[in-house]
Amino acid sequence: MPKWCTATVVDKKIWTEGLFTLRIATDEVQPFLSGQFLHLGLFPQGHEEDDSKIINRPYSVASPHGQELEFFIVLVDDGELTPHLWKLKNGDAILVGQKAAGSFTLKKSPPSEVLWLVATGTGLAPYIAMLRTNEPWENYDKICVVHGVRQFSDLAYTEELSALESQHPGKFKMIQSLTREEANGTLKGRIPGLFENGEIESASGFQCRSDNSTVMLCGNPAMLDTMEEVLGKREMKRHRSKSPGQIVLERYW
Ligand SMILES: Cc1cc2nc3c(=O)[nH]c(=O)nc-3n(C[C@H](O)[C@H](O)[C@H](O)COP(=O)(O)OP(=O)(O)OC[C@H]3O[C@@H](n4cnc5c(N)ncnc54)[C@H](O)[C@@H]3O)c2cc1C
Ligand SMILES: NC(=O)c1ccc[n+]([C@@H]2O[C@H](COP(=O)([O-])OP(=O)(O)OC[C@H]3O[C@@H](n4cnc5c(N)ncnc54)[C@H](OP(=O)(O)O)[C@@H]3O)[C@@H](O)[C@H]2O)c1
Repeated sequence: MPKWCTATVVDKKIWTEGLFTLRIATDEVQPFLSGQFLHLGLFPQGHEEDDSKIINRPYSVASPHGQELEFFIVLVDDGELTPHLWKLKNGDAILVGQKAAGSFTLKKSPPSEVLWLVATGTGLAPYIAMLRTNEPWENYDKICVVHGVRQFSDLAYTEELSALESQHPGKFKMIQSLTREEANGTLKGRIPGLFENGEIESASGFQCRSDNSTVMLCGNPAMLDTMEEVLGKREMKRHRSKSPGQIVLERYW
């Protein structure tokens, strides 16, 4: 059970119905690395004094340490916590665990020429936190964010990522893919298929090989599993401290 601090919602950005970013103010959270997660929690009504009743879940922090905490969240309609998070307004209280956890960080990822940051849905959050630090820009020659969602309105952080493309031409690429509709400037299909048929590499201009790439995968666990199979065919495997590889992943459920 995390040690809790009380924080305040200072901004709620709604990308589309049910998909939102919360900014939260507190100065009690301990230093953390971009890519790590914190627990968010709420007291159920009528149990405001009882820590053991706090409904809580882990969330990747979408901002680096030292800035206002940011979380990119999707409403799971029949979920236990997100329907309550979705109802929060500016000024409302929220509980945040004091200590972050997780090894989905650039520190724990192998060096390489190309860094692939691959996400479905809200799995984009840890990459936003990483890209707001100097670390990826100093340690990788090329960086490609691949974001897969159901439909165009589920795309988020596009402006920020497009601005990075303009600031780092030839070094940074954003690839967005939609599975349930078509739209200009996006690919159509699930991420593993688009890697397998070469569309993501040709759209980015970067190659994904075992001798030049690190691939971070975050979000839907079924995407992670299929991507591991697809990358396995290219002799790429999970990175472990005692057995170096190219793939680092964070499963959301
Ligand atoms: C390390 C880690 C980091 C996470 N970071 C984030 C994050 O940054 N943003 C975020 O929205 N969620 C994140 N999650 C998921 C989050 O912890 C909750 O599981 C989610 O918010 C649902 O909570 P709930 O109580 O409403 O639903 P629950 O009652 O717990 O229902 C869980 C079910 O909801 C679905 N689900 C859970 N998370 C997602 C998701 N992100 N996208 C689509 N479907 C989902 C799955 O079907 C899952 O079985 C993270 C999970 C882990 C383990
Ligand atoms: N705007 C929103 O995003 C929104 C708003 C309100 C509520 N919700 C709720 O949030 C939940 C789902 O959220 P989500 O759409 O962000 O997450 P998701 O279901 O994980 O879908 C995100 C992307 O992952 C793809 N995907 C699913 N399985 C895959 C696999 N095996 N391999 C590769 N890709 C795969 C999906 O493709 P497919 O389309 O092919 O499945 C989709 O493009 C649902 O409960 C939904 O009702 C979402």
